Amino acid sequence: MRRFKKGMALAFGLGLLMASSAAQAGGTVEVLHWWTSGGEAKAVGELKKSFEDQGGTWIDSPIAGGGGDAAMTALRARVVAGNPPTAVQLKGPGIQEWAVEGAVADIDDVAMAEDWDSVLPPVLAEIMKYEGKYVAAPVNIHRVDWLWANPEVLAKVGADVPSTWDEFNATAEKLKAAGITPLAHGGQPWQDATVFEVVALGLGGADFYRKALVDLDMEALKSDTMVKVFDQMRTLRGYVDPGFSGRDWNLATAMVMNGEAAFQIMGDWAKGEFLAAGKVPGEDFLCAPAPGNAFILNSDSFVMFEVSGAERIEGQKVLASLIMSPGFQETFNLAKGSIPARVDVALDAFDDCAKKSHEDLTAAMTGDSLVPSMAHEMAVPRSVRGEFLDVVTEHFNSDMTSQEAVERLVAAIQRAM
Ligand code: GAL
Repeated sequence: MRRFKKGMALAFGLGLLMASSAAQAGGTVEVLHWWTSGGEAKAVGELKKSFEDQGGTWIDSPIAGGGGDAAMTALRARVVAGNPPTAVQLKGPGIQEWAVEGAVADIDDVAMAEDWDSVLPPVLAEIMKYEGKYVAAPVNIHRVDWLWANPEVLAKVGADVPSTWDEFNATAEKLKAAGITPLAHGGQPWQDATVFEVVALGLGGADFYRKALVDLDMEALKSDTMVKVFDQMRTLRGYVDPGFSGRDWNLATAMVMNGEAAFQIMGDWAKGEFLAAGKVPGEDFLCAPAPGNAFILNSDSFVMFEVSGAERIEGQKVLASLIMSPGFQETFNLAKGSIPARVDVALDAFDDCAKKSHEDLTAAMTGDSLVPSMAHEMAVPRSVRGEFLDVVTEHFNSDMTSQEAVERLVAAIQRAM
């Protein structure tokens, strides 16, 4: 926030100078992100192209690793070294954590000039602000609680996409008996946690999810429902193939594409992967909300870090404005698998999965069943998320009982609070 005052003066002071130089028209940004899979790279490629089309210089700093854990480690190292990137893919409480440290730049002047408040859902606008001022620009709304399925594989056992976990288990048993891997999964902590929160929503509903994974309510954390969640995780462990450990999420998506597995439980960035491979929704692959009748929210955003130099500060403003432009929100989200963060972008060009996402999001906002993703850093501080990931992964990869997992979880969360 320090740079807000100092930087604003710089930006305005040097803005006139820059206006005379075509090469610098869009400024320069170095963008740290973790979008390296097929669908992700295509989507971030749209951002790069649009920025360059406006005359800007884009320096790409991708840090591979789904879910962004490696990127966040790299970001910390860059800031500690006194050399932060200009723009960073960052979200949820992480935005506030970096703002408290005084490391982020204010983009409120752009947001006010463009009236972002009137085009963003209030829940999202709130996450993008620190002390009432915008410090982040949202690119999308991802839904986490999705099941992705291969229809041909399901047809082999005469099954439809399940709508409860009991149905899921029954179908998985049939698939297993037919020699087909029911669940494509990548055994990485963030992917284990993604499945865990989807199961928690499905078995406990939005109220339980919110109490346990957002409010960290001890009664909910040690409840019988939580025991059942770990029971279901153990059941799912029986449905993955022997090679699951360490697998990247997009390779798990490819297993569903190729008919090597029936389902994947993953957010709709998986759709970006199917689309990048030329697959058609409703024909080559199916999307269906996972059991739960709610909506787990994950939104990607970009935060501008405190940097010096008029060209870089100009680049930040141009990038912030570009990210929020309706045309870009459409192009980007068509590739990413998500829906626009702006509520005023028509969905005519989007597929039925996106339309379903929008419909369920609206219903969840009205019905108070919209919940933020724990696994994708929308719900709790990074340190608390780390405790969830540790216990969930340890349980998934051992013969730990559900009861013991619950006890460990309670102790770990208590420690972290
Ligand atoms: C999420 C992110 C998505 C997606 C995914 C896998 O946390 O919000 O944009 O790409 O990680 O890398």
